[in-house]
Amino acid sequence: MLILGIETSCDETGVALFDLESRRLLAHAVHSQVAMHEAYGGVVPELASRDHIRRLVPLSRGLFRQTGRDVRDLAAVAYTEGPGLVGALLVGASFAHALSFALGIRALGIHHLEGHLLVALLAERAPEFPFVALLVSGGHTQLMRVDGVGKYTLLGETQDDAAGEAFDKTAKLLGLGYPGGPALSRLAETGRPGRYRLPRPMISSGDLEFSFSGLKTAVLQLVRTSERDGNFREDAARAFQDAIVEVLVAKCSLAMSVTGLSRLVVAGGVGANAQLRAALDATAARRGFEVFYPDPAYCTDNGAMIAFAAGLRLRAETAPNESKADHAFTVRPRWALDSLGTES
Ligand code: KG4
Ligand code: ZN
Repeated sequence: MLILGIETSCDETGVALFDLESRRLLAHAVHSQVAMHEAYGGVVPELASRDHIRRLVPLSRGLFRQTGRDVRDLAAVAYTEGPGLVGALLVGASFAHALSFALGIRALGIHHLEGHLLVALLAERAPEFPFVALLVSGGHTQLMRVDGVGKYTLLGETQDDAAGEAFDKTAKLLGLGYPGGPALSRLAETGRPGRYRLPRPMISSGDLEFSFSGLKTAVLQLVRTSERDGNFREDAARAFQDAIVEVLVAKCSLAMSVTGLSRLVVAGGVGANAQLRAALDATAARRGFEVFYPDPAYCTDNGAMIAFAAGLRLRAETAPNESKADHAFTVRPRWALDSLGTES
């Protein structure tokens, strides 16, 4: 009983094989399109879709070769239904439904952010429900209360830029290329703390909302006034990272006290940030809550989180749905995670 997981929402083609019985991930593979989009300074949607088409079949074949399993061992195929780039999503959805039709198996559309937050349960040290999840990716910054599979309540979210987007835009301003989050974070490690002071947007707003577009504007101002200072780039990177980490930690801390919960899961690409992890761990130790992180390989976009979330959904089903006879499907470029429990 295998599930093939497919992720094509943005600029990574991810595939994975998950075994329902042993609850083990058998193999996964990711192809990143970063090198292809780099020349344009950002993701070019049409190029992304075309590349997903090229990669999906060879990547999936590789999984079967690597594990010695056969495509006929598949019980279901899961794909990212949204949110994401419409063309890119359509590639994964079409591939999944074609396989589902050919093999007579279920096709399951999975919410990308549900994948990000549930994959924490795949780790050796896995959290129990309920928990608070901080979702920090290139497209989203949200705090979510998670009471079980499919039971998500939005606590607060960004009013403008996502945390990853702020990292990427700041990296661009500092001439670090695309996507600059990881490079900015490496540079910040060598920077001097406290040399430049940037704002901590909405840190004292008393709610769980975020705003990061002002921070990016403040960095732009700093570039204009201080670019010629010695060691400017590393010290500015440090100032930016200090500001964003402080805001994220303060909001997580508030979410823990508002909900009264004792477990925090950090999900999405920015969750790989070492300074964020260190600051959250320190606050958690002081405040008496626990923090859980997915394996670094599953923090950024991947197929494993889609296969795993589908596995949890199938297990939670009381009356299994049959494969749809007409194979009609849709994708959802915009899709709120907390609407999952309320729609059919
Ligand atoms: O979750 P993800 O792979 O894709 C989306 O669903 O958006 O997140 C990608 C984002 C990018 O903005 C990237 O710059 C950021 O995560 N990122 C980081 C780090 N690694 C990835 N940001 C800060 N520090 C990192 N170490
Ligand atoms: Zn993602």
